[in-house]
Amino acid sequence: MPNVKKTFYLTTPIFYPNAKLHLGHAYTMTLADALARSHKLANEKVYFLAGSDENTQKMIDAAAVAGVEPLVFLDGIVQNFMKLYSSLDISYDQFIRTTDAKVHWPGAQALWNMISDSGDLYKKEYTGLYCVGHEAFVTEKDLVDGKCPDHGTPPERLSEENYFFRLSKYADVIRQKIESDELRIVPHTRKKEILTFIESGLEDISFSRPRKASWPEGLGVPVPGDDSQVMYVWCDALANYVTALGFGRDDALYKEFWPADVHIIGKDILRFHAAIWPAMLLSAGLPLPKSIFVHGFITSGGKKMSKTLGNVIDPEELIETYGTDTVRYFLLRHISPFEDGDITREGFKDAYTAHLTNGLGNLVARVMKLAEDNLGPREIDVSGTFPAEYVEAIENFQFNKAMDIVWERIAELDTRITSEKPFAIVKEDPKKGQDMIERCVKDLSSISSMLSPFMPSTAETISAAIRENKKPENLFPRI
Ligand code: MSP
Repeated sequence: MPNVKKTFYLTTPIFYPNAKLHLGHAYTMTLADALARSHKLANEKVYFLAGSDENTQKMIDAAAVAGVEPLVFLDGIVQNFMKLYSSLDISYDQFIRTTDAKVHWPGAQALWNMISDSGDLYKKEYTGLYCVGHEAFVTEKDLVDGKCPDHGTPPERLSEENYFFRLSKYADVIRQKIESDELRIVPHTRKKEILTFIESGLEDISFSRPRKASWPEGLGVPVPGDDSQVMYVWCDALANYVTALGFGRDDALYKEFWPADVHIIGKDILRFHAAIWPAMLLSAGLPLPKSIFVHGFITSGGKKMSKTLGNVIDPEELIETYGTDTVRYFLLRHISPFEDGDITREGFKDAYTAHLTNGLGNLVARVMKLAEDNLGPREIDVSGTFPAEYVEAIENFQFNKAMDIVWERIAELDTRITSEKPFAIVKEDPKKGQDMIERCVKDLSSISSMLSPFMPSTAETISAAIRENKKPENLFPRI
C-alpha cells in the first residue's frame, strides 16, 4: 500500500494590515508555527496558512493618515508582516491577501452563491451602530459612555440596505456539533462561553455593505450579481480559509486539506469562528473545521496589548536584542496558551538568563565540551520516540507544558553530569567515561529534537554540534 501521509491543515487569523504587527500577533503566529512544526516532526503533511484581511475601512483610514494610496499602503504593510514572519522563523506555506482578485475572490463569491442558493441571504434595510475597530455592528449594551470599550471610539450610526445572512437558522445544529466535540473548541472555558452565547440566541447578521464611492477599485469583494454591494468584511475574511486552498477555482489543495484540522484564533474573535463561520459552511453544505484553538491575550502592564492603548511591545525590538528563538521561547513557555499572560521587559530578561543562558546554553556547552575533548568522531544513534506526555501536551495545545518537560530533561541531565562525574571517570577509566559521555550526547540530541518545533534554529545548532562533535559558540550570551 502506498504510504499516504496524514494531512494537517492549520490556519491563523488574517490580521488587519492597518498598522505594524505587535507582540500579540507575533504570539498567535508563534503558537501556530510551533504546532505546524510539531506535526511535521510527526511526519504529517502540513499546510500552514497566513494572510491579511484587507478590505476594510480601518485600513483606508490608516492609509489616509499615512498620506499614501490605500493599495500602495497595503503592499507596504504586507511586506512588513512577511518580514516579521521571517524574523520569527514562521514556516507558513501561503500568505493570502483578500484583495487578491485572482486567488481569493472566485472562492469567496462561489461560497456566497452557495449560501444564496440555500435561501440564506435576504435584503433588508438596516439601521445600527457600527464600530470600525471591530468591523462589526454593536449594540448600546456593548458601549461604555457611548464608546466602544475596546477601541475608545464612538460607533457610527449607519442606515443602509444590506444582504442579511440567516445565522439564526443554524444555532441548534452548531450548538450540538460544539457540544459533541464534532467541532472541538479548546480550551473548555471557551467552549462553554460560546455555548452560552449560542444558547442566548443567534440573530441574523448583515452580510454586505453598500460599496462606498470613496473606496478604490480593487478593494471589497463584489457581491455576485449586485455590484452596488461588497461583502461584509468578516464574510469575505472567513472565506480565506477555503479560498486559499483554491476553493471555487482549482480544487486540488481544497480536496486534499479541507476540513481544517485547527483554526488558531485569539479569544476576541471566537464568535466569528465558532458561530458565523460554521453557519456559513453548513449553509453551503461544506464540512466544518475539526477544531478551534482559542488563546488568550498578551497583556503589558495588565492591559491587552494594542495599538489603541499605546502599550505595544515591538517583537522586532526583542528579536534584535535577544534573538528569534528567545522570543519564541518566552512566548511559548512563559505564557499560558489558554489565559492572558503579562509580559514585561524585566520578566523577559530574567527568563532568558535563568533558562537559556544558565539552563540550556550551559548544558549544551558542558556536554559538547566533554564530547569534543573525549570522544572521537562517531555515529550517535539518535533515533527514538518522544515521551508520551510531551506528545499529549502538544496535542492539547499546551506548549508551555511540553516545554516544561524539555526543561525537566535539561535539569536532569545537568544533575546527572554533576553527580556521576563523567569528566573525572573518563580520566581513570576511558572506556567507561566515554560511554557515559556518549549517553549524555544522546540525551542532548533527544532534547534538541523535542525543542525543534519551538526553537528551530537552536535545535539545528545543537544537532550540527553533535554531528561535528564540536562545542558550539555560546548559544545565549549574557546580556
Ligand atoms: N482580521 C481579523 C481576523 C480575521 S480571521 C478570518 C482580525 N484581525 S486583527 O488584526 O485584529 O487580529 C486579531 C487577532 O490578533 C486576535 O484574534 C489574536 O489572534 C491576535 N491578537 C491581537 N492582539 C493580541 C494580544 N494582545 N494578545 C494575543 N493575541 C492578540 O481580528
